[in-house]
Amino acid sequence: MIANSFVTNAWYVAGLSPEFATNKLHGMVIAKKPIVIWRTGEGKVVAFDDRCVHKRMPLSCGRLMENGTLECAYHGFTYDGNGQCVKTPSQPNHPIPSRAKLKPFPVIEQEGVVWVWAGDPDKMGKARPPRTPELTSGEWETYACEPMNLACNYRLLIENLLDVTHFYPLHDGNIGDLTASSIPIEFVEHEVDGNPSVMTIREVQNYRHPPFLIDWFGYETVDRHHTHCMSNPGLTRVRLRCAPPGELGTAAERGYILHHTHTPVDETHHIWRWIVSVPKGQRALDGKTPSIERIKAMFPGVVDQDRWALERQQSMFNLPDDGYQEVHLRADKSILILRKILESLEKGVTKDPNKSWLAA
Ligand code: FES
Ligand SMILES: [Fe+2]
Repeated sequence: MIANSFVTNAWYVAGLSPEFATNKLHGMVIAKKPIVIWRTGEGKVVAFDDRCVHKRMPLSCGRLMENGTLECAYHGFTYDGNGQCVKTPSQPNHPIPSRAKLKPFPVIEQEGVVWVWAGDPDKMGKARPPRTPELTSGEWETYACEPMNLACNYRLLIENLLDVTHFYPLHDGNIGDLTASSIPIEFVEHEVDGNPSVMTIREVQNYRHPPFLIDWFGYETVDRHHTHCMSNPGLTRVRLRCAPPGELGTAAERGYILHHTHTPVDETHHIWRWIVSVPKGQRALDGKTPSIERIKAMFPGVVDQDRWALERQQSMFNLPDDGYQEVHLRADKSILILRKILESLEKGVTKDPNKSWLAA
């Protein structure tokens, strides 16, 4: 396992579409790459190296001019929409050095999400940003949290999402309990939009839902189908389907899709967003309040518990291992697969498609 590392050659979430107002500059660091990103007057989101070619001043501190060029705040080097420097104010009568050009980053805006390829464009292969159709579909209601900056490696969050055995004790009494933690876990290795992926599946019948889930979906005892899928290194998709016993797959079914985005900043920080979507019109326990309103109000407390654990876990990675080795249980198999996938992506290694990642 590579501790405190991250995959550079991957699509990561820079933000959700509404965060990018026209001609507003954003500066961010994705996988240790400083990036200036904005939506042009033509509506296209573009991204470049945030370092001015002159003296590394962050261009995100500069300003967009009326003609769409970007002026550096320090000495005024000005760049056009292709990243080409077109003006050096202190030296107007000399040719602009040919190297005065910003490195562009590939951007795809898709289904309400702005994705940036942080690595080498030649290493993109068939990897595409995973789809998130619920975010822009009229059949779903969606709420997105504000982005959170966590002081831990992004892998700890992905592992947390695949490893639902932590629902007891970490989330005991809100979304979890001991029974939830003991539900057998199946896992599948597959490919999502050209990205190697691992998904956990937990099915349970006649299960008494923990209190928050009774509130959100209105059923006390349910049959439930729950999946967590690391779609690519930047996104984990969770799907929960529940219904009174025997009624999964009927009109009585309720649930949500939860997209977690995890964008590494550096080895020990990442940006976490959670975006929940529920079928339009789904109501909470009282039959009146929209499910989405209850989740919006209650889920942040659950997220705080994860954040608390993850940042403490990270503090232990910052000390020498000194002979320490983790002990794993059966449910940790998906995490071992996840680690293999991330490690292989980091090293640019591929595997025999007929073999498990565990054999790679
Ligand atoms: S650092 Fe940008 S113009 Fe000098
Ligand atoms: Fe959790």
